[in-house]
Amino acid sequence: MSQTEDNNNNNKIILPIFTDFEGKFKGRLSAVIPARIENTSENAPISAKYDCRIKVEYHKEIMSLLEEGMIIAVKNFKSKFNNSQSSTNRFSLFVISRIWPDHYGMKGLSDSTYYPMQFEVIEQSVEDWDTDDKSTMMIQISAIPINYDLLVNTTDEEGEIKYEYVKGFSYPIIGDTVFLLNAKTVSQMYNQKVMKKMNWDVNNNNLEKSSPELGIIKMFENSTEKIPIFVHLDNLVRYHFGIFAFTGGGKSNFLSNILRKILLYTKDTKILLFDISCEYPFLLADLFADTLIESKIILESPVNDAEQFYISVVKPTEFEEDGRAKNGLVKVFERGIATHFVKPSSVTPTCKEILKELEDLKNESTGKPHYLDAINQIYRKLFECMTQNNLNESSFIDEKFVQILSMSAIEAMKTFKVSDKAGLYAWASSRDTLRGRLQQKKNEGERNNSRNDYGVTIDQIIEILEGNTRLTCISISDPYTIKNIAITLSRELLYKRKRQFKVRPYVLFVFDEAQEFVQDLSNSRGIDKECSIEVETLLRQGRKYGLGGCIATQRIAYLNTSALQQLHTYFVGTLPRPYDRNVVSNTFNIDNQILEKTLEFAPGEWLLSSYIATGIENVPIFIRAENSENKIENFIEKQ
Ligand SMILES: Nc1ncnc2c1ncn2[C@@H]1O[C@H](COP(=O)(O)OP(=O)(O)OP(=O)(O)O)[C@@H](O)[C@H]1O
Ligand SMILES: [Mg+2]
Repeated sequence: MSQTEDNNNNNKIILPIFTDFEGKFKGRLSAVIPARIENTSENAPISAKYDCRIKVEYHKEIMSLLEEGMIIAVKNFKSKFNNSQSSTNRFSLFVISRIWPDHYGMKGLSDSTYYPMQFEVIEQSVEDWDTDDKSTMMIQISAIPINYDLLVNTTDEEGEIKYEYVKGFSYPIIGDTVFLLNAKTVSQMYNQKVMKKMNWDVNNNNLEKSSPELGIIKMFENSTEKIPIFVHLDNLVRYHFGIFAFTGGGKSNFLSNILRKILLYTKDTKILLFDISCEYPFLLADLFADTLIESKIILESPVNDAEQFYISVVKPTEFEEDGRAKNGLVKVFERGIATHFVKPSSVTPTCKEILKELEDLKNESTGKPHYLDAINQIYRKLFECMTQNNLNESSFIDEKFVQILSMSAIEAMKTFKVSDKAGLYAWASSRDTLRGRLQQKKNEGERNNSRNDYGVTIDQIIEILEGNTRLTCISISDPYTIKNIAITLSRELLYKRKRQFKVRPYVLFVFDEAQEFVQDLSNSRGIDKECSIEVETLLRQGRKYGLGGCIATQRIAYLNTSALQQLHTYFVGTLPRPYDRNVVSNTFNIDNQILEKTLEFAPGEWLLSSYIATGIENVPIFIRAENSENKIENFIEKQ
């Protein structure tokens, strides 16, 4: 008896990378059940899937110590191979997806048992849970392979244990002891590689400053220390990420948290934020007020004073009545970074636009040959003018151009005897009015040199992005306008990057309320469709050129799935609709059992799975994010 027990490790001190909660956790792998593979993701690991059952001896504290998401290790058959002298142990790793207690007495009850007896047993069981009686109670665990093996080498001369993770699934030994990875091991598993690659040394960080962690791992919370979670911010940005949770799940809060970390802990990554709900000027107020970070807020209409700025920004309910919030925003306004968007209609047209007008007039004039002749003559004159003055299609028109246009138009009306009641005549005789728009542009140009509050055009936004500004927030609630901006900016930036052969600095395009920007193609039309296609292209190709994307939404089911498949990191909060969870499960290869855990999440709790940005590929983990409002609270307190 003692011999077998020894062999099975039960009485041995466990390896220091595991924990048994001071002897309270004793479990065995009882069954490995093959499960059907349903997902079709490109990133799906190629290996069989199993659902494992583990039986754990009852201990009254274990139910509160064990948590779903914890990682367990069981020796596998590969450890038997060629292993007689070697001191390497090989374990298969699993993540706990479900935990439940069983009571022997209750199991024995059926609906036909004598009723008083049923009550007797049920009442008795309440007291039983308070004991450590292993004979009547047991804890059962369901766990899913994470497709990694843990290789542990115990022969290090200094007595230190060396271990590594090897990708792939190995069949575990049924009946063998189950070990729980302890907090330190889990922390190293997720963080060590990331910290090394990002050059972060958190131990040396002075505690006054915030550190780059996104939050803490939701594990071992009832037992010991808090384990921080770090992600590789460069890879997060470059390989795109998604944030999915139902409304009120804390997406915007979490996103502002991530953006803050990116700005503070990457060297030069830039952020372009499409803020259709106009909440980020407040959610990131501390950064906008920070003079070390160049930033810009682009609003829908001009704001002349701090009061107007305060009114046009959405505040979380807790801060709505808070006078300090106003002071914070006043500080942001006083930095002079807020401006507004100037629609293309009030801007000097390009030669191409004028030529397009002529094309349109031609199309309207079919069947009227003298109109067509008149238009062709104007066209010729303009073309001559362009060649003489070195203008190309994308050049802005100038005084000379307008003069030629206006004169040749009036002349053509006379030559071809166009009726003065015709639309073409009205167009031709009013071309001189373009002069007014030239003047406006000139004035604006002059003003822009001195002050900022005369608005920015789309070209100026591109200039801003190419300059030193690291945070550009487009807070425009009109869907048509902001989508148009999104289309132009994604197209232009991608185009420019392709020609520059440039990867850095990374630019992160952030789409909160992404259902507005990346709609399902089969159900969208017009500008919605155009925007979705453009963003999809950005995600597909941007990676190569250092352009990243972030998609945050509450209804993932209505999104463009090809765009979603480009995301390499995902944060999933509560998704109450099974359909949404299915989309996540299928697109990102996260087990449905694990996803169901998100149903009990409070705002700020996330399931994180990443192909590239955590220390371990595609192993889901539950995390609790910092509340971004605390940062804001600190900031406005100081005002
Ligand atoms: N990490 C967190 N810790 C504690 N509370 C949080 C956390 N994150 C968010 N909350 C709370 O949840 C509320 C909703 O957050 P938020 O506005 O970010 O949700 P959302 O998912 O963006 O909602 P919507 O879909 O309406 O845009 C916040 O007012 C905040 O109080
Ligand atoms: Mg939101």
